[in-house]
Amino acid sequence: MASKLSPHALQDQRSQFHPFTSINDLRNEGPTVMASGSGVRVRDVNGKEYLDGMAGLWCVNLGYGRREIVDAITRQSERLSFFHTFNGMSTDVVAECAEALLARAPVPMSRVFFGASGSDANETQLKLIWVYNNLRGRPEKKKVIARWNAYHGSGVATASLTGLPMMHNLFDLPKGPILHVSAPYYYRQAPAGMSERDFSKQLARELEDVIEREGGDTIAAFFAEAVMGAGGLIPPPEGYFDEIMPILKKHDILLVADEVVSGFGRLGTYWGSQTYGYEPDLITSAKGVTSGYFPMSAVFISPKVWDVIEGGADQVGVFGHGYTYSAHPVGAAAALAALKLIDDLNVVQNVADVGPYLMQGLQDRLGQHPHVGDIRGKGLMLGIELVKDRETKETLPMANRTGRQVLKAAAERGLITRALGDTLVFAPPLVITRNEADEIADKFALAVKDVLG
Ligand SMILES: Cc1ncc(COP(=O)(O)O)c(C=O)c1O
Repeated sequence: MASKLSPHALQDQRSQFHPFTSINDLRNEGPTVMASGSGVRVRDVNGKEYLDGMAGLWCVNLGYGRREIVDAITRQSERLSFFHTFNGMSTDVVAECAEALLARAPVPMSRVFFGASGSDANETQLKLIWVYNNLRGRPEKKKVIARWNAYHGSGVATASLTGLPMMHNLFDLPKGPILHVSAPYYYRQAPAGMSERDFSKQLARELEDVIEREGGDTIAAFFAEAVMGAGGLIPPPEGYFDEIMPILKKHDILLVADEVVSGFGRLGTYWGSQTYGYEPDLITSAKGVTSGYFPMSAVFISPKVWDVIEGGADQVGVFGHGYTYSAHPVGAAAALAALKLIDDLNVVQNVADVGPYLMQGLQDRLGQHPHVGDIRGKGLMLGIELVKDRETKETLPMANRTGRQVLKAAAERGLITRALGDTLVFAPPLVITRNEADEIADKFALAVKDVLG
């Protein structure tokens, strides 16, 4: 097998320890090595072209090779390649970027705190939440609730927050004050015959039970993605946020909206919270902020939280948190260019159009397939769950790794998808056209048939 690999694949295979990769698979099959990209397409070192149905890792929202972002990065690198924001320092471009972000927030926000990844941004959130309650004289109010199947990052604290056992097992994470409640996974976890509304009510009751069991005065925050991404592409059932928001408010629990994937248009509104009509106290964003052209994250802090932190300035002294690459000027330049393109290209409207079109295309081609159990999602965040039996929803044997087989069949046909177990996911660049969406649906339907008949 290894002899067929390209020189770069061999080099990579013997030298790189890959994130979220099976060591056995990599040893047996080698890596796929990409070399270039343009628009919605990437090309590997052997010259094979793929339509990137995942926008990298749900981040290259504006597609590859965007001249405006490349030029902004080049200009900023030449002018001032780095300066920091510790000790009251800043850069012109960072100041502009922070203000541009605040202007786009879904609800009035007071400040933006920059980092380099979604994980570090959620670590920042945890610290902000704890500082907030210390300054309010509530040192017991520190527990955080997240959901099973959530993905909030892979740092020590954020992997604990993440609700995926494969990220907990073997790593000896200090669990800390983190609790998990059920995922809003209607297809798999709602009792047979229950409506989405009633399932939302059931989940809200469970949340309230946990809060009451633990004591509301011990719970600081609830973390939620709008649509769960890496945990299985799980959109909330109807009425979910309407049910849980009043409970959070009643118990004075902050809502941290993890918009790392859903922010900047992916669901067909600028923010995921706008799709589902809830108001976050804190927002985590990353990925789409620079369209993946530069590692950058931005935490948005509402007046409610900021006023407490600013009001405690004497007690806080020097705020003891930050990263060398917080507010990197090249990232800020990339973000400013990306934000402008999102506006100029009407990206959000494109998602509102092409998202449902792609969903329909998948439904048309696969809606009746005996092994397609569920096609779900919102905007350009779609998942297709494969099953052994549509009627009973019985899962396929795990050992078959059917999701992975379909992923490979799609790759053969020049389409990149992602397999989350047996749920295949699409989150293409947000600038995708209807024709390109047809290409995804056509190639994917053929890949499913290649594997499952
Ligand atoms: C919702 C969500 N939050 C946080 C993260 C972590 O971001 P990063 O991988 O940049 O640390 C991700 C990554 O996919 C994510 O999907």
